[in-house]
Amino acid sequence: MEKPKVENRSVLDFADPHVDELLKHSIRTQLESLLKAKLTTAQRQQLLQKSFVDAMALVLSDSKVEHKTLVKAFSAMYDNAVQSMALAQLSEKLLTKQYVSASGLIMSPYHCKHTIKDIYRIQGYARGVDKAIQSKLSHTDSITILYPACGPFAPLLLPLLSYYKDSQKYTKEQLQVILVDVHPGAVLALKQLVKDLQLDEFILRIEEADATTYVPEQSIDLLVLEAMQHGFTKEGQLSIAKHLVQFLTIEGLIIPQNVSVRGMMVIGENEFNQQWKEVEYSHSLNMDASAQQDRVELGEILSINKSTLLNMQTLELQEGIKVIPANQITLPAGIEDMDKRILAIYAQIDTFAEEGVGQYDSGITHPRPDMSFYIDTKPRDVEHSHFVANSGDSVQFYYQLSGLPGFVPVKV
Ligand SMILES: C[S@@+](CC[C@H](N)C(=O)[O-])C[C@H]1O[C@@H](n2cnc3c(N)ncnc32)[C@H](O)[C@@H]1O
Repeated sequence: MEKPKVENRSVLDFADPHVDELLKHSIRTQLESLLKAKLTTAQRQQLLQKSFVDAMALVLSDSKVEHKTLVKAFSAMYDNAVQSMALAQLSEKLLTKQYVSASGLIMSPYHCKHTIKDIYRIQGYARGVDKAIQSKLSHTDSITILYPACGPFAPLLLPLLSYYKDSQKYTKEQLQVILVDVHPGAVLALKQLVKDLQLDEFILRIEEADATTYVPEQSIDLLVLEAMQHGFTKEGQLSIAKHLVQFLTIEGLIIPQNVSVRGMMVIGENEFNQQWKEVEYSHSLNMDASAQQDRVELGEILSINKSTLLNMQTLELQEGIKVIPANQITLPAGIEDMDKRILAIYAQIDTFAEEGVGQYDSGITHPRPDMSFYIDTKPRDVEHSHFVANSGDSVQFYYQLSGLPGFVPVKV
């Protein structure tokens, strides 16, 4: 039977306050965790590894897999990963510490743990990364992959590596991975998970470092990055990508290959409520045709790929505030109900080849309503942060690189 590391503890000490926080998300999960704690280390690791391999076998399959089958597989992966995290014995402080850094939100491991259940985001990335690895290894014997801001479970790579190991698709001689996270709690949990998955052979290093300043010792063939929230706000995706792109080899790839951030003017009720009334879950395939027709698209505000990142100019304003000029758009004229519409910003993520994460496939691609952007109408309360313009006006967007990254529109 597996014993926690601290002496004089029994398996039932999983109800200790510091792990209780982690496991109390449902009574069922707590009870299951207690049961699993009675397994031997080898049995628990086997269950964990199998759940990772099974989830990847489903998402890499070219046949259609039912949503409920995916939910079941991803829940199993989550439950087993949480169990591993409990064994890393993070203090409550490390588990829950969350703060805003100079480049964005640093989420706590407690909150990050859910990202391993974000099915269609992981599917879009895993399929893209799988194809990118295949493409790279058709020209070279081995590649180095960097995954910054990977979180406590590194869910865009560890499940894939488990699958590769199990199927013997690739060996440690072909793939070497560097995992980076600035949060010490995430790093502790990650080390435990890599150990439990028995993936050490693929892991070159696990670094506790800020990815916006981290300098890798070798050049990188594949940079895998997802540090964003809906509307391309809050987290440091752009700052991290902009810094790390310089360490890619000439032929090096960034996954996602392109993120297109776009704007649209919508009737909030149609876009965010009516459209989802009859569907089982939100996904780009379940979007409603009439809600889509009702949108007024404004076009692309910013596109993030290897070439735009290498050419991006930063403007420094007073007090050291840094911004990146994004696109200029002209607000369409002749839309009768423009004064009733709100701006929504969304990202279309192309990971690699034709793989990606579409609108509503994940929280990160959900269109984000911006209630401070007014066209043909005025806000009732005058706040300096509100943006007011008229149909036909041209608007220049800037992206602010700060602890709260996001778009700033300016009338031209
Ligand atoms: C949402 S979580 C995990 C995201 C992960 N890519 C995934 O797919 O689940 C975000 C993680 O990014 C880390 N992070 C955010 N900004 C970072 C930075 N500048 N450098 C290193 N890690 C960062 C946080 O510490 C946190 O563990």
